[in-house]
Amino acid sequence: MITVIGSLNMDLILQMGDFPQQGETVLGEQFQTSPGGKGANQAIAAARLGSEVTMIGCIGNDNFGDTLQTVLAQEHINTKSLFTTSAPTGIANILIHQNDNRIIVVPGANYKLEPSHLDAVKDVIEQSKIVILQLEIPKETTAYALELCKDANVPVLLNPAPAANFDIQWMEDITYITPNEIECAQLFGDNIDSILEKYPNKMIVTLGSDGACYFDGEYPIHVPGYMTKVVDTTGAGDTFNGALAYALTEGQSLDEAVYFANIAASLSVEKLGAQGGMPTLSQVYARMAGLDE
Ligand code: RIB
Repeated sequence: MITVIGSLNMDLILQMGDFPQQGETVLGEQFQTSPGGKGANQAIAAARLGSEVTMIGCIGNDNFGDTLQTVLAQEHINTKSLFTTSAPTGIANILIHQNDNRIIVVPGANYKLEPSHLDAVKDVIEQSKIVILQLEIPKETTAYALELCKDANVPVLLNPAPAANFDIQWMEDITYITPNEIECAQLFGDNIDSILEKYPNKMIVTLGSDGACYFDGEYPIHVPGYMTKVVDTTGAGDTFNGALAYALTEGQSLDEAVYFANIAASLSVEKLGAQGGMPTLSQVYARMAGLDE
C-alpha cells in the first residue's frame, strides 16, 4: 500500500487571454472548479495506475471537502484516514494563460493536520510500502511523518513543493526527493550536477518536457521526456510523483521508474485540471509502445 500524507484543495481554475498586471482588470475566458491539492493529486496518480492508496489529510466541514472526499473514494482510495476540521477546505486559485500557470494556495484545513493526527493512524503509516509527502501541510507534521517512517523503516518519497516549507535537515531521512529545477536551485543552489552527485539515487530533478535527471552513483543519468501537445501543466509534477511511487513499489529500477513517470506526466498535461489527464496503466504502456499517436 502507498500512503500519501498531504493536502487536498479545490482548484478554482481561470483561463485567460493574458495575466492581469498589477492594478489591472482583465476578462477571463473560462472558469471551472476541479479537485486538486498536491497530496490528493499524487494519491490519484498512483491509484489510477493500480496502486492501493490511503490518503491522510484534513478537509473542512463544507461542500468542497465533501466533494474532494467523494472524488478520492471514486478513485478507490482509502479515505478512512481523512480528518474533518473546523477550518475551511483548502483552495487553490489557478490562473492559466497559454502553457503557463500561476497558483495561489490558501491551505485552510490542510494546515490543521497535526502530528497527533498521524499518531491516530500510525498503523497505516507503518504498513506502507512507501509514504509520499509534499509540503502543503505544517512543517512540524512533515517532520513528524519523517520520524514515524524512519522508526518503521518505511521509504519516503518527498516532493519539496512549495519549497519554502522544506528543511535541509530532513535529507537524511528521505529516500527519494523530487524537486523541479526551480525548487532545486532554491533549496540546494545552481549547480545541478554537483547537487545530484551529492545525493546519488536519491535526488531526481524534474525538467518538464525535457524529462528528469539523477546521479546513479557512477554517472549522471538523464531520462528524456516525451514531447506532447500541452493543454494544462497543472498536476504534471504530481503525476510524476504518483507514478514514480507506483513504479518503485512494483519493483521497477530507478531508471525504469523515472521513464515510466515521465510518460505518465506527459499524458497528464493533455487535459485540463490537475487530475483530468492522469493516465491509467494501459495508457502509459500504450504511449511507451508508440500506440497512442
Ligand atoms: O500541483 C498542482 C496543485 O498545486 C494544484 O492541484 C493545487 O491545488 C496546488 O496544490
